[in-house]
Parts: sequence; structure tokens; C-alpha cells
Amino acid sequence: MSEKRVIQFEIYRYDPDKDDRPYMQNLEVELKDSDKMLLDAILRIKDNVDDSIAIRRSCREGVCGSDAMNVNGKNMLACTTNLNDLKQPIVLRPLPGLPVVRDLIVDMTHFFDQYHSVMPYLINDAPPPEKERLQSPEAREELNGLYECILCAACSTACPSFWWNPDKFVGPAGLLQAYRFLADSRDQATAERLDNLEDPYRLFRCHTIMNCTDVCPKGLNPSHAIGKIKEMLVRRTV
Ligand code: SF4
Ligand code: FES
Repeated sequence: MSEKRVIQFEIYRYDPDKDDRPYMQNLEVELKDSDKMLLDAILRIKDNVDDSIAIRRSCREGVCGSDAMNVNGKNMLACTTNLNDLKQPIVLRPLPGLPVVRDLIVDMTHFFDQYHSVMPYLINDAPPPEKERLQSPEAREELNGLYECILCAACSTACPSFWWNPDKFVGPAGLLQAYRFLADSRDQATAERLDNLEDPYRLFRCHTIMNCTDVCPKGLNPSHAIGKIKEMLVRRTV
């Protein structure tokens, strides 16, 4: 018979409809053998201990980006975080810097507004070819490390510049996407894209703190992409 596995948690709770203020809930949960990842444990809590805890999740495979949260002080995806890598009690909080809707769910409006503001789509007014707009293998390679973003918001909500100005600073996730299209050989809107970012807040609030790169669960480097955009702006002024 396998050994009993009990894990201690401290979980941020706040339901604006009934709580005056947020509080931390201490609880423990007994896991089954199949519970390996943090998300498994949270779902076990909801099944067996307290089903009122509110979280977002969907794919369970690090693809949808919906279960990013702050775990023991660092933003990560619950579904790709192995329980063996976490110290107990495991402290769960919502992503920092965004308004809390309830418990571990934050309001992502600013995050997605900023994402949409960078025109995250290909702009090319040339008549489309019969099949597809081709790229050389080298040009395609330029997009590696950019297109894989799952918009989980772990990076932007780890960034102090985004905490202070979520309505003005695009933030690391949005800027990574801005560069994803600036770097695309098929895109024709380079000047428009750079004009859109040449602003003391939208791009230049990045002070290269690097929290974004430290926390990205997909191993991407928004800080590097932001540096590339700054380089493009400097090059066009000389
Ligand atoms: S860059 Fe990484 S951390 Fe930021 S939103 Fe994309 S996947 Fe998440
Ligand atoms: S549940 Fe989809 S990324 Fe974790």
C-alpha cells in the first residue's frame, strides 16, 4: 500500500460579494498517487476539502495559459509545476498587480487591452498569393522564441513597471508579441508598429529588471525582444 501524502497549503481567499477583505486560508489535502502537479493538488482540494476556491484552468498541459498564479512568491503555471519542487506550506496567491475578481482569479482586462494595442496580427496589403506567403527557413527561424507565447500573463504581472502603469505600459507579453510581428519577413507595417511604441510609457517603461524572463513558463525571453525593438527605434533615427 502506498504511503499517505498530505500537503499543507496557504491560499489567498477573497470574495468581494461576502468578504470585507482578503485573508489566507490554511488547509491540508491528502493526495492520490496520480496527483503529481500543483494543479492536481488544487483540484483535489476542490474535490475533497473546499469546493468554493475559485481558479481558472483548462488544458492541464501548459498550452491555454489560464492557470498562472503566484506560488511561493513566484508566478508560474499550476499545471506544469511539479509538487516535488515546492516547499510547504505551498502559498498560493493571485497574479500580482491586477484586480482580483475572486480568490485566484484576476481581471485580465488591462493585460488583453495592451496585447490588442500592438496589432498582434500580420499586416500585408499585397494581394495574397495563390497558396501562402512563403518565408525562407532563415526568416522563419527569426520567429522562434516569439510565437510560442501562450498569453498566461506570468511575465507582465511579475513586472513592477506593469504594476504601476498597466494602462500605459504595454508590458513584456504585449511587447514580445509586438516584436513577433516586427521580426516577421511577411509583415509590411514596421513603421506603423514602431510609431505605435515610440512613447515614454508604452515601451520605454521597461527598465530591464528581467523578472519577465525569469518567470516565463515557456522559457521565452521578453526582455530580449524588448531590447530588439529599442534597437530598431535607435537604428531608424540614425
Ligand atoms: S512571454 Fe511567457 S510568461 Fe509572458 S505571457 Fe507569454 S508565455 Fe506567459
Ligand atoms: S491549465 Fe492550461 S496552461 Fe495550465
